[in-house]
Amino acid sequence: MAHRIAVVGSNMTDLVTSIIRMPAPGETLEAPSFFMGFGGKGANQAVAAARLGADVMMLTKVGDDVFGQSTIKNLKDNGVDISHVGIVAGKSSGVAPIFVDESGENSILIIKGANNELKPADIDAAAEDLKGCDLILMQLEVPLETVYHTIAFADRHGIETILNPAPAAPDLDPKQVVKATFLVPNETELALLTGMPTGTDAEIETAARSLIDKGIRTVIVTLGSRGARLITADISTLIEPLRVKPKDTTGAGDAFIGSFARYYVESRELEASLRKAALYAGDSITREGTQKSYATAKEFDGFVARLQP
Ligand code: RIB
Repeated sequence: MAHRIAVVGSNMTDLVTSIIRMPAPGETLEAPSFFMGFGGKGANQAVAAARLGADVMMLTKVGDDVFGQSTIKNLKDNGVDISHVGIVAGKSSGVAPIFVDESGENSILIIKGANNELKPADIDAAAEDLKGCDLILMQLEVPLETVYHTIAFADRHGIETILNPAPAAPDLDPKQVVKATFLVPNETELALLTGMPTGTDAEIETAARSLIDKGIRTVIVTLGSRGARLITADISTLIEPLRVKPKDTTGAGDAFIGSFARYYVESRELEASLRKAALYAGDSITREGTQKSYATAKEFDGFVARLQP
C-alpha cells in the first residue's frame, strides 16, 4: 500500500531579491536581481516529498488573488493532492519578501494572509482523509490552535507527526506539542521552546534532552552548515551535512524535513532517512530559490550516484 503524507501548513509566494547588503534606514539601494518563486514552509515540505515520489495531501488556505491561483496550480503540477486547499474571499495569499546575500544567507519577512485562516474546523472537515495518512507534517506559519488541534487529532488516531516549530513562536505552548512524534527545531527555536541556551553542542544536547524528559520522543535539531543532531532517550548522533558551496540556503530546512518524511514513511529507518535528507538539502542549496531548487527523485538519484567514490 502506498504511504501517504499530509501537510497541514502554509504556502507563500516568495519575492526573492539578491542583495549586496541591506539598505540602511532611509537609504535607497540598487539590488542586482529579483525573481518570484513558490514557497511557504508547508508547501515547500509538501513539494519536496512529492517530487521524491511520496503521495502527499496538503491542507492550506490561499487568498482570492493571482498568487492563490498560481499556488494551487503549482501544488497540482507537483502531484500534491489539493482537495483540502481552501480559497479565502477578501484575503491576500501569503507572501514572503526574501533577501539573499552573496554568501547565500537569507533574511525573510512573511505576510501570512490567508494562511491565518486555516482553522481547527478545517482539520475536522478533512478528518476522514487525514485518518488514511501515515504521517502529518506541521510548521508554525498557520494558527497555533490549528497545530495543537492537529497534534491531538493525530495522537488520538495513532498517526505519527512531525512538528517543525518554525518560524520561532514565543507563544508556542510546549505542553501542547509533547505528543508530536518528531520535533524538528533549529537552535533558535529550541532555545525559545525550552528557555535554555543553545550556543554550544553541549547546551543543545541538554536543551533537547529536557524536551525528551517532558515526553517528546524524538528531537532533531537542525544546525545549518553543521548538519543536524538526532536525539532520543537512547541516541545522540550527528547527521553530517553535505559540504558544498551554497548559492542560496533558503528553504534548505524544508527540503530536509520534506525529504526525511518521504524516506521515513516508507522505510521507518530514522537515521538512514535523515542521512538521505541531509544530502537532499545539501543538493538544494547549490541552486537558487526554494521549491525550484528541489530535485526530483530521478535528479536526486543521479546526484547521489555521482557522490559515490
Ligand atoms: O523556509 C523557507 C520559507 O520560509 C520560504 O519559502 C518563505 O516562504 C518562508 O515561509
